[in-house]
Amino acid sequence: TRPLKVALLGCGVVGSEVARIMTTHADDLAARIGAPVELVGVAVRRPDKVREGIDPDLVTTDATALVKRGDLDVVVEVIGGIEPARALITTAFEHGASVVSANKALIAQDGAALHAAADEHGRDLYYEAAVAGAIPLIRPLRESLAGDKVNRVLGIVNGTTNFILDKMDSTGAGYQEALDEATALGYAEADPTADVEGFDAAAKAAILAGIAFHTRVRLDDVHREGMTEVTAADFASAKEMGCTIKLLAICERAADGASVTARVHPAMIPLGHPLAGVRGAYNAVFVESDAAGQLMFYGPGAGGAPTASAVLGDIVAVCRNRLSGARGPGESAYAALPVSPMGEVVTRY
Ligand code: NDP
Ligand code: HSE
Repeated sequence: TRPLKVALLGCGVVGSEVARIMTTHADDLAARIGAPVELVGVAVRRPDKVREGIDPDLVTTDATALVKRGDLDVVVEVIGGIEPARALITTAFEHGASVVSANKALIAQDGAALHAAADEHGRDLYYEAAVAGAIPLIRPLRESLAGDKVNRVLGIVNGTTNFILDKMDSTGAGYQEALDEATALGYAEADPTADVEGFDAAAKAAILAGIAFHTRVRLDDVHREGMTEVTAADFASAKEMGCTIKLLAICERAADGASVTARVHPAMIPLGHPLAGVRGAYNAVFVESDAAGQLMFYGPGAGGAPTASAVLGDIVAVCRNRLSGARGPGESAYAALPVSPMGEVVTRY
């Protein structure tokens, strides 16, 4: 069987781990897919940076030329941000490739248009890594729970802010010190404002709500409050009440089923609640549905290797589809429910 050709756009915290796992797990991946997977190009911004394990001949700064090759099976977009990621993904579809992305900001803003472009060209768009790092969440919501009715998705979906809040609470660390550590560990976005002001969690909430409730939820539909104003005094007050403070994303279907809400804000969590025990950059998400009841998804929510695990899972799925001629699920926004930013405001869970 011919090798499946993969191009990597971005080789930073996530991309370098994707490349490493593709190399170290090459035989297993070939066995699982039914054909070898070949990394044929790596687009970066700084070509002279030393990148361990990457063949320098594969490195290019011309990402557009790479996605226009015409012989690619999969383009993996781990650059981040809106442009040039959006144009590169669209060009990849136009030139016959399927796309795997970890880019929540872009999917939350333009997911509908990107799904439409994938459909137009008969290709796949997968983005398991865009929400909650290594934790399988998109696929369970889109596939495993497709026959159920999801009513609520609630939890911690940003590793950086959970790391900061955990450090502030458990060690008394200052906000800036904890943020610097989260950045050094590769958890934070290129501009950490996206994390601490809640934009990243809001993008994830928009994606989750759209998939869970089969409707279209835009970033602007999500009420957003960050965690920059949470102080040591707030933690002291929370402790007196037997609580800690977490940044939550909450997506709910209204009781009458006629609308949905999505919001992100810090909340007091009783110490006995499972969310209170989520430490470091871990994430935890509860999904409540009619038939399944309450499910909890828990694990590493950020970082190079955990995120690469989700990207690799998508690469395997897309490659299998290429070989079988199947297509993965498209956008499932058929309900057209009105979205309001705030449901009932609850600040203690
Ligand atoms: P990094 O900043 O570490 O890496 C970005 C990469 O993109 C770098 O290799 C950079 O090149 C390259 N790049 C930037 N601009 C261009 C361009 N114009 N053309 C080609 N290459 C470019 O980011 P991360 O790896 O942390 O994140 C990547 C994506 O994954 C983002 O969408 C992020 O939201 C998402 N994500 C990140 C997680 C994490 O824990 N870090 C977890 C889940 C998702 P160079 O190396 O030369 O600078
Ligand atoms: N910056 C993000 C976070 C990366 O801290 O959760 C994972 O999406």
